[in-house]
Amino acid sequence: MATKKKSAPKASADTTAADAPITREQLIKNLNEDLSREYQAIIAYIVYSQAIKGAQYMSIAKELETHAKEELAHALTIAKQIDYLGGDMTVTPKPVKTSEKATDMLRFDLENEATTIRAYRERVRQCEVLGEFAMAEHIREILINEQDHLIELATALGEDPPDVSG
Ligand SMILES: [Fe+2]
Ligand SMILES: [Fe+2]
Repeated sequence: MATKKKSAPKASADTTAADAPITREQLIKNLNEDLSREYQAIIAYIVYSQAIKGAQYMSIAKELETHAKEELAHALTIAKQIDYLGGDMTVTPKPVKTSEKATDMLRFDLENEATTIRAYRERVRQCEVLGEFAMAEHIREILINEQDHLIELATALGEDPPDVSG
């Protein structure tokens, strides 16, 4: 029997000193955090779109319903990426805050969208470090959607969209 020396498993591909170190295992963990945030967003938008009251909020309530469907599509996309990487998918959403006040609900959504955008910007870079360019592309498409959500929520609150570059 030939004793072939087993090479060490390749943790990450083509990383350069300038790139943040990332392994596929770490990417799976991070994508599961993203999936938990998408579950949170689905729940929040379903509940808030129905719970929001007041004539001045009826058009944003309709938009929140649309967001709920878009977040579901994002969750499916992220789940597919985790499965492709051979990971297990989380079944746990991040906690959803509740309030009777329309402005609170919109504020919670705005804060979550800002967090989500920061996370996906980081995720695009991590996918690229690992040479997962198609995955980076899928996440870029989600990002376009999340930025629209952020702008719509800020507009409904009568504010400029927050700076999410940090
Ligand atoms: Fe989303
Ligand atoms: Fe969103």
